[in-house]
Amino acid sequence: MRLTHDIKRFRELLRPERGAYALGLFALFMVNITEAAAPIFMAVAIDLTEASLTGSAVKTPPALAMLGISAASFTIISAILCYLVLQTVANVARYPMLMHTAVPSHRIGQTLRRKLVTHLLSLSQSFYDRSRSGDLMSLATADINAVRMMMGPGVLVGIDTLFIVSMVLLVMFALSWELTLIALIPLPLIALFTNFFSHAEYNRFEAVQEDIGELTERTRESYAGIRIIQGYAREDFDGDRFQDYSLRHYAKNMHLARIRSFFDPTLDLMMGASNVLVFVYGGLMVVENTMTLGTFVAFLFLINYLSGPMIGFGWAISLFQRGRASLRRLDAFWDTKIEIQNSEEAKPHRGDGGLVIKDLSFAYAGPKLVEDEDEDPQTATADAKDDRTSEPIRALEGVSLELAAGQTLGIIGAVGSGKSTLARLLVRLYEPPEGTVLLDGVDIRDLELESLRETIVMAPQNTFLFSDTVARNVMLSAADPDGEPETFTELASLHSELEELKEGYDTMLGERGVNLSGGQRQRLAIARAIAADPKVLILDDCLSAVDARTEEAILGNLRRVFDGRTGVIISHRVRAVQRCDQIIVLEEGRVTERGTHAELIEANGYYARIAAEQTDSEDHEDHTTGAAE
Ligand SMILES: Nc1ncnc2c1ncn2[C@@H]1O[C@H](COP(=O)(O)OP(=O)(O)OP(=O)(O)O)[C@@H](O)[C@H]1O
Ligand SMILES: [Mg+2]
Repeated sequence: MRLTHDIKRFRELLRPERGAYALGLFALFMVNITEAAAPIFMAVAIDLTEASLTGSAVKTPPALAMLGISAASFTIISAILCYLVLQTVANVARYPMLMHTAVPSHRIGQTLRRKLVTHLLSLSQSFYDRSRSGDLMSLATADINAVRMMMGPGVLVGIDTLFIVSMVLLVMFALSWELTLIALIPLPLIALFTNFFSHAEYNRFEAVQEDIGELTERTRESYAGIRIIQGYAREDFDGDRFQDYSLRHYAKNMHLARIRSFFDPTLDLMMGASNVLVFVYGGLMVVENTMTLGTFVAFLFLINYLSGPMIGFGWAISLFQRGRASLRRLDAFWDTKIEIQNSEEAKPHRGDGGLVIKDLSFAYAGPKLVEDEDEDPQTATADAKDDRTSEPIRALEGVSLELAAGQTLGIIGAVGSGKSTLARLLVRLYEPPEGTVLLDGVDIRDLELESLRETIVMAPQNTFLFSDTVARNVMLSAADPDGEPETFTELASLHSELEELKEGYDTMLGERGVNLSGGQRQRLAIARAIAADPKVLILDDCLSAVDARTEEAILGNLRRVFDGRTGVIISHRVRAVQRCDQIIVLEEGRVTERGTHAELIEANGYYARIAAEQTDSEDHEDHTTGAAE
């Protein structure tokens, strides 16, 4: 059952922190008991004063009498001292009470966040193809916070109210069990209503959390696309779109707020019913002389006193329901399978970097079917949950090749022909079918991932700059972290440009710093990959945004870099691949031509054709640059 499962999960979260919670709850009991007891000694002090003034005998308050202590055993001073001591203990204990429930709840939040990040880092590209960053962001913030609120204030307020309510009930029973039972008549109704309320709270809160994911994604997208939006003067369009989402989110929140605002007054109403019952029945008892007036008044007072804790009780339930809903969302995320991980007998790589690809075919999972905007929101969310995807997208068909260690391979082909897909499969960003990609004779699926990714490194087509210094961006995965970044940027013909930046290699890049041009980013990607010093180096279209002269310089340097390494150069341009030992042409995922530059020119196919086209345009380019000088 859902509830038993959730209780189990709750206890699992609690277990490592039970010491801290025990301290916190002990402090809570101390606060409650000392706070309740302090006024008794105040009363004793007043009674003693009164007795000494009037010379009459001192009365012992019932609470003390129950414990068998007589007021006469106190002096005025000792009673006041007792009062002061109890008040001090109450206030001193308040600190550990708050700390030992808040601190473990933050630690639990921290543990969950670490677990989230570890899981995120181990998921493969295909997971990221399917998910929205907004959803992942709201899991890390809003959902973890809801769990934390449950484990902190939720636990504290929940136990506090339970404690107070049971104390008050105990006193009520002691005064008159008959009247207490009468007062409890609305209880089943309260239970029923609370049950309804907490279900509604759970569902509505879950809907809000899902929506936060969407809203976060919208915000992120508007922010990321701001250049395009402003560049095309589409601010209104994006603003309207955002407004729609924002309104929807508002509506869902109102839906949630309504149930909450409904709960407290209704609970109060039921307490009121209890009040009326006690008033009528108790009044009759007083009239019939089966109850003293004092007890009756005390009873009414106690019943009213309960409404405070009842509101606390409602709040605690709401925190628990929210925490439960969020914990479920987090658990669902952790249940996503890690598709690419070390197999049981994974071993480290040994060898020089010889590659064999055997009849490799690959298809991407199709994109999610788009939700119909006009659809009823209830069915729309149900659809989003079942992950319906369209037809898979075929990217590679029966690709085979052999690349001896130390040799270079050029891959050329039109846009969308599968070049990057092949590169991604070589580093296992996506999972190639079993037995299709062998590195030095071993299926890459049987190699330890870390070892594979140290051996084969790819400079991707679009690289990412972290908000960090130029130097640390270049040395991200450097084999020798203490090495000089200049060595690698020099090879990528980037050094002189980086030096010109305001703070040279200490300049901040990324969101918090300067941005590099497309061509500079590409060369940074090359430098980063070279710094990793891999046995197999793959450059995925890393020269497309540099001018002919820079490309020539880099290609010249690459000959040195590739010395003693296996190299793969992916490009649209013949010039980038012509010196490779082996060149393949990809067309719609198939290898249609293969050989050396000379052989392919000879064959007079696609390669020869684009070679001719590109020579023409290069001649033209050279001519124009020559004229400019
Ligand atoms: N993450 C992905 N999810 C789904 N389909 C993809 C994904 N990446 C690529 N594809 C599809 O796979 C096919 C091959 O893409 P790939 O990126 O390998 O081409 P490419 O040869 O590198 O093209 P380009 O020269 O433009 O970089 C294309 O049809 C593309 O739409
Ligand atoms: Mg590509």
